[in-house]
Amino acid sequence: MSSKKPDIFDKCGTDGGYFGKFRIKGDKYFTCPVLDGLPGPRMEFNGKEVVMWAVNNYTGLAGNEEVKKAALEAVEEYGTFTPMGSRLLTGNTSEHMELEKRLSAFLEKPASILYNYGYLGVIGTISALVGKEDTIVIDKLSHASMVDAAILASAGKRFRPYRHNDMESLEFHLKSINKDRKGGILIITEGVFGMKGDLAKLDRITELKEKYEARLFIDDAHGFGVMGDNGKGTGEYYGVQDKIDIYFGTFAKAFAAIGGVAAGETDVIEWIRYNARTNVFAKSLPMVFVRVLSVTLDILEKNSSLRERMWKIAKRLQTGLVELGFDIGGTQSPITPVYVPAGSEDIAMSMISMLREDYGVFVSGVTYPVVPPGIILFRMIPTASHSEDDVDITLKAFKGMRDRLKLDLSSKPSGRNR
Ligand SMILES: Cc1ncc(COP(=O)(O)O)c(C=O)c1O
Repeated sequence: MSSKKPDIFDKCGTDGGYFGKFRIKGDKYFTCPVLDGLPGPRMEFNGKEVVMWAVNNYTGLAGNEEVKKAALEAVEEYGTFTPMGSRLLTGNTSEHMELEKRLSAFLEKPASILYNYGYLGVIGTISALVGKEDTIVIDKLSHASMVDAAILASAGKRFRPYRHNDMESLEFHLKSINKDRKGGILIITEGVFGMKGDLAKLDRITELKEKYEARLFIDDAHGFGVMGDNGKGTGEYYGVQDKIDIYFGTFAKAFAAIGGVAAGETDVIEWIRYNARTNVFAKSLPMVFVRVLSVTLDILEKNSSLRERMWKIAKRLQTGLVELGFDIGGTQSPITPVYVPAGSEDIAMSMISMLREDYGVFVSGVTYPVVPPGIILFRMIPTASHSEDDVDITLKAFKGMRDRLKLDLSSKPSGRNR
C-alpha cells in the first residue's frame, strides 16, 4: 500500500495562511478590491464612483500633467526598457548618477543609491551591511521589509525586537548587547509608522545610538516628501537628519512613482552599491522613472503648498473623526487610523460595506499580520488632492454609519499593544 507523500501544494486549497478566509472564497471586496481609474480622491469601485481614502498619494502628484509629460517624452526617447542590465554591468547612466546626486543633496547626505522598489532597497541595504557578528535592534512595529531584511541578514538569530517606540526597551537591548559585544549594532525603525501614523522618537533614538555606539537606519517611506518644512522627512522634522546614518525613502508614496533611495556617507553607500544583492543582481531603474523622479523632486522642492494642502485636509479629517467619537490613536502624521471598536472583524466588515455601498466612501481594513493580532483599523490617507467637500462627505458617512450600526465608541482599542 503506498501512502501519498506530503505535497508542498497541499496547503493551497485550504483556508490557512495570511487572509486565507478571504482567499478561499475568491474575495475581491475586502482583499484585492478591483479599483479602476487614476489613483486620486475619486476612483471607481465595482463600477461606482467612490471617495477614495486608501492610496498613499500624499502630495497629490499621481496624474500630475508635468510628470506625465516627462514620462511620455522619456518613453518616446528610451522606450520602457532602457537601460538594460544591473547598475554594475550595463544599467548605469549619467542620468541615474545625476538623480542620485540630487537626492543626496535633498536628503543632506554625501551619497545615495537608487533601487527599483522600496521593499528591495530595504532588504538590499540592511543585508549588505549586517554580518554574522553584528546585531540588529528593530522596533517591533517595523514594516515587513525591515523584518524580512533582519531575518535574511541574521539568519534568524541575531536580531532583537524592542517594544514599539519604547526607549527603555531599546536601551535595555543596547546595554545588554554591549556587555558581550562582538560586532556592530544597527538600530532599525520606520520614521513615520505606516499603520498607526505615529513618529519614531528620533530625538531619543539618536541620543541612544550615540551613547551605545550603534548605527541607525530609518525607513521613512511615509515621511519622505511628507514630513519636515521641506519634505526631507522625519529627520528634518526632529532636526536630527545629520544623525541618521542611513536614510531610506520609497518613491511609491509622496513621489507617486516607483523605486527607492538609501542615503548616507559615501564609503557606506559605495559598499552597499557593490554588496546589496537586490542592486547587484537586478535590472536598474528604468529611465522613464529616472526622468519622472527628477521632475517630481523639482516640484516637491519648489512647492511647499502641496504639503500645506495635505496637512489642511488631514487636520480637517482627523478633527472631524475625533469629534464624532472615533478613536484615531496617537497619530502625528497625515496617516489617519480609525480603530474598529472591540477589534471585531465582523464589525469591521459591516462598517466597510456600509461606507462603500451606502455612502460611496472607500476605506480599507487592516488586520494581522500588517498590525499586531487583536487590532483592526481603517487606514485613511488624506492627500493634497482631496477637497474639503470630500472630507465633509466622508464625515457625514462616518456619522451615519456610526448611528445606524449603533457602534459603541466608548472603548479605545488603540490603547492596546502600545
Ligand atoms: C515602511 C515601508 N517600507 C517599505 C515599503 C515598500 O516600498 P515599495 O512599495 O516601494 O516597495 C513600504 C510600502 O508599503 C512601507 O510602507
